[in-house]
Amino acid sequence: MSLKCRIALITGCSGGIGAATALALVRQGCSIAIHYNSAKEKAQALVQTLQAAFPGVIAIIFQADLSDYENVRRLHSQVVDQMGHPDILFNNAGGTLKTIGRMGNIQDISIEDFENTWKLNTGSSYLLTQLCIPHMVEQQYGRIVFNSRQYTIQGTGGVIGPHYASSKSALHGLLHWIASRHAKDGITCNAVAPALIVETTMMSNPTDEMRNMIPVGRLGVPNEIASIVELLVTNAYMTNKIIVADGGWTPSAF
Ligand SMILES: NC(=O)c1ccc[n+]([C@@H]2O[C@H](COP(=O)([O-])OP(=O)(O)OC[C@H]3O[C@@H](n4cnc5c(N)ncnc54)[C@H](OP(=O)(O)O)[C@@H]3O)[C@@H](O)[C@H]2O)c1
Repeated sequence: MSLKCRIALITGCSGGIGAATALALVRQGCSIAIHYNSAKEKAQALVQTLQAAFPGVIAIIFQADLSDYENVRRLHSQVVDQMGHPDILFNNAGGTLKTIGRMGNIQDISIEDFENTWKLNTGSSYLLTQLCIPHMVEQQYGRIVFNSRQYTIQGTGGVIGPHYASSKSALHGLLHWIASRHAKDGITCNAVAPALIVETTMMSNPTDEMRNMIPVGRLGVPNEIASIVELLVTNAYMTNKIIVADGGWTPSAF
């Protein structure tokens, strides 16, 4: 229970990785602000699961479409009003909007598709982080984790398209600046960079071709990402890092 009484805001808790991370952080003693966008029933089911496993745990659901910055501001203020300032922020929610694949035509991603993808995956993570930092600085404690993507390190550009790949790579520049600027404020800032993770809506139909690309011969599961986030928020000396979880696919990273 190393995080007893800490408040964790996890975006995208209605998804596979967010839900698994909520469970991991509740086990460490956190209260959880459970964010969702459209899947209210999944967010409610997660609260029931957490309360059944850890009676008395504080877990409250918050709805916000994070492609709209006003909703990001509203999410932050509702969490502060109902639970207090987040000590831990996992910027996990994200989406692909459109998929054109590795050999797709860049003409099929309009500048509007590009900007909307960045708004959801990058801009809203930036804004939420910006809103959370003043309190973290004031109390000289904070943990910020981004959810990026393994191929931002691998250098292939991935299987979705240029809009998604670039929106996730940008998180790394952001975390490097924040980690360096706020290292002396007791704030750590890191990213987890998963490859292909099943039990998520995003990766609902894995193929044999995908499995064959991965040295361990299978896709990852949400718990394997949650345990990395748990490490990153319980360790005060690990900052400015991008931790890749990909079954051995990318040989050089952490
Ligand atoms: N699954 C993978 O293979 C994989 C690999 C690398 C990185 N990731 C990253 O992991 C993160 C979590 O995804 P997941 O794998 O757990 O997939 P998931 O099950 O599809 O979950 C996606 C989450 O993001 C939320 N979301 C999507 N669009 C949103 C919007 N406009 N506003 C607010 N929230 C929105 C969803 O909310 P609702 O369902 O409530 O709408 C859901 O909670 C994403 O950032 C993704 O890019 C996933």
